[in-house]
Amino acid sequence: MQKIVVEGGCELSGVIEISGAKNSALPVMAAAILTDVPCHLNNVPELRDVDSFAQLLSSFGAKITPREHYVDIDCSSIRSVTAHYDLVKKMRASILVLGPLLARQGMARVSLPGGCAIGVRPVNFHIEALKKMGAVGALENGYINMKAPHGLHGAKIFFPKVTVTGTENILMAASLATGKTVIYNAAKEPEIANLANALKKMGAHITGIGSSKIAVEGKSLLNGFNETIMADRIETGTFISAIGASKGSVVLEGADISLLEYPVELYRLIGINIDKCTGGIRVSCNKRLKNTSILTAAYPGFPTDLQAQAMAALSLADGISFIDENIFENRFMHAAELSRMGADIKINGRHAIIKGAEHLYGTDVMATDLRASASLVVAGLAAIGVTKISRAYHIDRGYEKIEKKLEAVGAKIWRENQ
Ligand code: EPZ
Repeated sequence: MQKIVVEGGCELSGVIEISGAKNSALPVMAAAILTDVPCHLNNVPELRDVDSFAQLLSSFGAKITPREHYVDIDCSSIRSVTAHYDLVKKMRASILVLGPLLARQGMARVSLPGGCAIGVRPVNFHIEALKKMGAVGALENGYINMKAPHGLHGAKIFFPKVTVTGTENILMAASLATGKTVIYNAAKEPEIANLANALKKMGAHITGIGSSKIAVEGKSLLNGFNETIMADRIETGTFISAIGASKGSVVLEGADISLLEYPVELYRLIGINIDKCTGGIRVSCNKRLKNTSILTAAYPGFPTDLQAQAMAALSLADGISFIDENIFENRFMHAAELSRMGADIKINGRHAIIKGAEHLYGTDVMATDLRASASLVVAGLAAIGVTKISRAYHIDRGYEKIEKKLEAVGAKIWRENQ
């Protein structure tokens, strides 16, 4: 295993290129299952999760041709419909093959993803919705075993809670179902619009994307697509937190802050300057951050995926900050590690109280999940001394060459074998 090592105290300066969004690339890759025509994805990030998803599609018999930031997927000769546990356990987003497999092949056997560090992560909403569309089946030996012997048909789907991959699974299934599907309480995350663009290019008729009510007219056959993956708004927000913590002035090339309106306003309020510039945004900060309150919420609220990184930056802010994590039940694992660096954080269930410290101090810490690992990098950049972050594989799931990008703007950051 590898460690990421950060020697804090360097102001950042230069240009960072924002990669394609992990949470767009995965559902768009899944959409290729819906057709036997080859599909092309551009601006694909080089991530462990993308590799894992490609492995999963290959295990069905799909032909994957990955090139740098580009993936060709040909699902014309799919022969298996089983998503095995050893692949699914590495990446919960594997659940995204359930809808497309049922729609295309009439059956699917997908390992229950199981929980992860941040929560139980149930998929009951996905299963219930697909049953309303004509699928039958049950949970057997840790697998979701479902069939759609007469194909899927349109239905009215009411999600009790906003679910991003639940909305994506039903969008894909409905695109190849007979008749009209309406999704109520649909997720509005921008990544869903990226998926919908691909599905529309395939021939599906979709309205209401970005609203809480989405309608889909299914087709009996779908084309392929050539789709470009949008810039990663979570990577963008991660680097904004990093610059707020470590100070400096950096251009985030390719960043699109129209996808981050709420967080950008909050970052500005705590003292981070964020201005549009040619080809992206300039982010700068040269003074101690101010305190604030954050309540994570579904889009367009403050993204839960940026909560850990903000907590790291606020650990050095002036005053007391509050964070409520309203999406996942266990997404404060990074707080204990930040406290080992000198942060003053009190956790009570879904509430965190962060009393800004004068300094953080480098030490050995452990990454527990993807975004927690990013928060430890943010803290390490601002800490006095050297921070060694073990289990670096977590960060590689969702950030493309993060240490190279930060090193290029002046950070002292490198990898060591554990
Ligand atoms: C997606 O996960 C993202 N992953 C997550 O990003 C992100 O944190 C999350 O949405 C929230 O924005 C991908 O897009 C691949 P949900 P997802 O279904 O779809 C409950 C990252 O770091 N729920 O929107 O799995 C669930 O427990 C990852 O990049 C059910 O109860 O999240 C949670 O409390 C982490 N039953 C809430 O809904 C269900 O069937 C929202 O979860 C489904 C969800």
